[in-house]
Amino acid sequence: MHKSLFLLDPQIVFLNHGSFGACPRSVFSIYQGWQLELERQPVEFLGRRIEGLLDDARAVLANYLNAERDDLIFVPNATAGVNIAARSLRLQPGDEILTTTHEYGACDTTWERVCAKTGAVYKKRSIPLPLVSDAEFVEALWAGVTPRTRVIYLSHITSPTALIFPVVEVCRRARESGILTVIDGAHAPGQIRVDLSEIDADFYTGNCHKWMCAPKGAGFLHVRREHQTWVEPLMTSWGYTHGDTFVSRQQMQGTRDPAAYLTVPAAIQFLREHHWEHVQAECHQQAIDLRDRLVTLTGLPALCDNDHFRQMFTVAVPPTDPAVLKRRLYDEFRIELPVIEWDDRLFIRVSIQVYNTPEDGEQLLLALDKLGVTAQRV
Ligand SMILES: Cc1ncc(COP(=O)(O)O)c(C=O)c1O
Repeated sequence: MHKSLFLLDPQIVFLNHGSFGACPRSVFSIYQGWQLELERQPVEFLGRRIEGLLDDARAVLANYLNAERDDLIFVPNATAGVNIAARSLRLQPGDEILTTTHEYGACDTTWERVCAKTGAVYKKRSIPLPLVSDAEFVEALWAGVTPRTRVIYLSHITSPTALIFPVVEVCRRARESGILTVIDGAHAPGQIRVDLSEIDADFYTGNCHKWMCAPKGAGFLHVRREHQTWVEPLMTSWGYTHGDTFVSRQQMQGTRDPAAYLTVPAAIQFLREHHWEHVQAECHQQAIDLRDRLVTLTGLPALCDNDHFRQMFTVAVPPTDPAVLKRRLYDEFRIELPVIEWDDRLFIRVSIQVYNTPEDGEQLLLALDKLGVTAQRV
């Protein structure tokens, strides 16, 4: 699909869909249409129509995720979803939250803050790499479970390493053991199939503005019904007393622009019209080909097999100054991609979205070669 269907700067080799997503022109104009409609009669829009409009948008999203409309709420982003879950739990001193060393920094900070206030303990486990077996992953994680484990917090697709974690199996086993699960699906919907009924997490939060290509500021939080009464909104607003449902307590949080939420159905329609399963498979193949060549270039081992990543992958690069590498890739080659320091190692993370072509990969390979990020440096 041609890049001109998106609003992206054609001069940039954009290999970082993962950080903030990118919205197609047609979806973005629907978003702006909602904003114009709101401004035309704000009281009609926010005072009388909004609840029905949000209900309709949540119904479409819930259908896409195989969930029930009133078990999920819109949130501005996955960070908000993790915050709602983490702050609502009534943690006691000594309770343990088990996670991995692959989680997103802002969410690590959220849990660490909650632990600092409650006396709970945030326990990060390292997972054997390369990730090639779901069973091995689950065993490695479970070795960290103790009688004090109250919560397992896990990314569905990790931020620094772009790995797909086996959340269905983890959630099933956690439920059997009476442990709550909080799954961070910031990168999952739109990149891989997300079936919330199958995953059956206690809390699952995700973004629509990354891989579903919705406008920025559209995420969701899905909560199992038995927990909905004790989930606290981040802001207390009118809905807290006026309604008495999970949605009413969470949904209206003062005056703000709901246009990104209302555009989620248009983003889903865009994915359907463009046969997204086919797109995902093609992007995956492009990603496999590029990753193989990058691994050959750097001479460093891959982080996982082909089944544990999809449209985004991370490869290790030989030691160099990360800030300089990132700046030179951008300034000299117009390549946008994240350079990540993780566990004393240096990574680059590559996103392949529908607008990327093999030519983008060629440019990256050429740039890394010219910058000396190759096996010979090691
Ligand atoms: C695993 C993970 N969780 C949470 C986030 C935060 O997403 P947002 O900034 O949309 O809240 C990210 C962002 O990249 C992420 O990778």
